[in-house]
Amino acid sequence: MQVTIIGSGNMAKGIGSRLLSGGHDVTLHARDNDEANAITSELQSAGVEGQITSVAIGSPADDIVILATPYTEVQTIAKNYDNFKNKIVVDITNPVDFETFQLIPEAGRSGAQEIADSLPAATIVKAFNTNLAGALLAGSIEEKELDVFIAGDDEQAKAKVRELVNTSGMRAIDVGPLANARHLEGFGLIQMAIQDQIGTNWMSSLKFLG
Ligand SMILES: NC(=O)c1ccc[n+]([C@@H]2O[C@H](COP(=O)([O-])OP(=O)(O)OC[C@H]3O[C@@H](n4cnc5c(N)ncnc54)[C@H](OP(=O)(O)O)[C@@H]3O)[C@@H](O)[C@H]2O)c1
Repeated sequence: MQVTIIGSGNMAKGIGSRLLSGGHDVTLHARDNDEANAITSELQSAGVEGQITSVAIGSPADDIVILATPYTEVQTIAKNYDNFKNKIVVDITNPVDFETFQLIPEAGRSGAQEIADSLPAATIVKAFNTNLAGALLAGSIEEKELDVFIAGDDEQAKAKVRELVNTSGMRAIDVGPLANARHLEGFGLIQMAIQDQIGTNWMSSLKFLG
């Protein structure tokens, strides 16, 4: 598949590395060309199957667009760039207020639903928010494949994201409608909050065993 990732930070690199290893092609849309070029060369030289290109940030061309930016920037991106019509937009954000360490959306709402309101022409699928960037880059934890939890209202869009995940060496788990993204965002918050306690230096992963 051809996938656009908006952002060139830790998650762009982590998710990008998985997708490339699965033979998918990635276009990174970055504000910082140097950062994007560094990620592009590093990932490409890792012997991956897919192709990675970096371009200046702009309207996305591919059918699947991953928003790898802070939640609080999504409204700006929705306003600044067009061409989200008929795209599957993958929301990976953890909508956390870092002053209060609470979720930003009001109780009963998810950030994913807020993003769906900001990008009404797109189909939003929540995914990857419970996967830490380091674990994605490593590709597995204790030799176990990563679980990627997915929520969304459009079954076809979710099937596409599941296929993208499963063909990239991870296990997709569908947790239901977009409204359930708020539970994933709650998990994302807890995962951040317990990092010091569990002492794995941000190399843990939320996974169902058994
Ligand atoms: N890090 C994790 O382990 C993790 C895990 C799960 C979910 N997440 C979520 O993933 C998202 C990205 O996290 P990250 O750790 O990759 O953050 P990061 O390393 O800080 O990268 C954020 C990227 O977003 C770009 N960006 C910020 N504002 C933008 C705007 N208005 N327009 C275009 N690009 C913009 C930044 O560009 P500049 O460099 O130019 O500022 C940067 O490339 C966040 O929503 C986070 O909650 C992160």
